[in-house]
Amino acid sequence: MEKTLVLLKPCTLQRGLVGEVIERFEKRGLRLAGLKMMQLTDAILDEHYAHLREKSFFRDLKASMKATPVIACCLEGIDAVAVVRAMTGSTNGRNALPGTIRGDYCMSNQQNIVHASDSLENAAIELARFFKPEEIFDYESSNLNFLYALDEL
Ligand code: TYD
Repeated sequence: MEKTLVLLKPCTLQRGLVGEVIERFEKRGLRLAGLKMMQLTDAILDEHYAHLREKSFFRDLKASMKATPVIACCLEGIDAVAVVRAMTGSTNGRNALPGTIRGDYCMSNQQNIVHASDSLENAAIELARFFKPEEIFDYESSNLNFLYALDEL
C-alpha cells in the first residue's frame, strides 16, 4: 500500500469544502491514516515549494498558503499517489476536467483546493515534513476484501 500527502488549502477552509473533499477520498476507498490542522510558516513553505522559488507567483503562493490554517491528510491505498493525483486534476482549475476535485470546485491556478504529492518519493518526503511518525495511524481497515481483489492485496 502507498501513502500520500494531501493538503486542503486555505481556500478550501474558507469556502466550506473540507468535508466534501475529504468525503471524495473516503468514498473512493482511500484510508485516512492521518489528519490534522496546521498553520503553515515561511520555513515549511520555502521547503515545500522550493522548486518554485524563482517563479513570479512564489510570494503570492506562500501568502495564500498562510492565509488560514490548512488541513493535512495522509491517505493510503494501492497506487494511492497516482489515484489521488488523478482525482486532483490539472493545476489550473480552469483547465481541470469536470469530475476532478479542481475541475469541480475551483476556477484558479493558485486557489486550487488541494496539494497532492506527485510521486512516491515526494510523498514520503512530504509526509515526513507535515506529520510526526506517531501522527500516522496504521489501524486495520475492515473492508479491504471488498475494496480490492484478493490477488491485489
Ligand atoms: P505545481 O507543483 O506546479 O502544481 P500542482 O499543485 O498541480 O502539483 O505548483 C504548486 C502550486 O503553485 C499550485 O498548486 C498553485 C501554485 N501555482 C501558481 O500559483 N501559479 C502557477 O502558474 C502555477 C503553475 C502554480
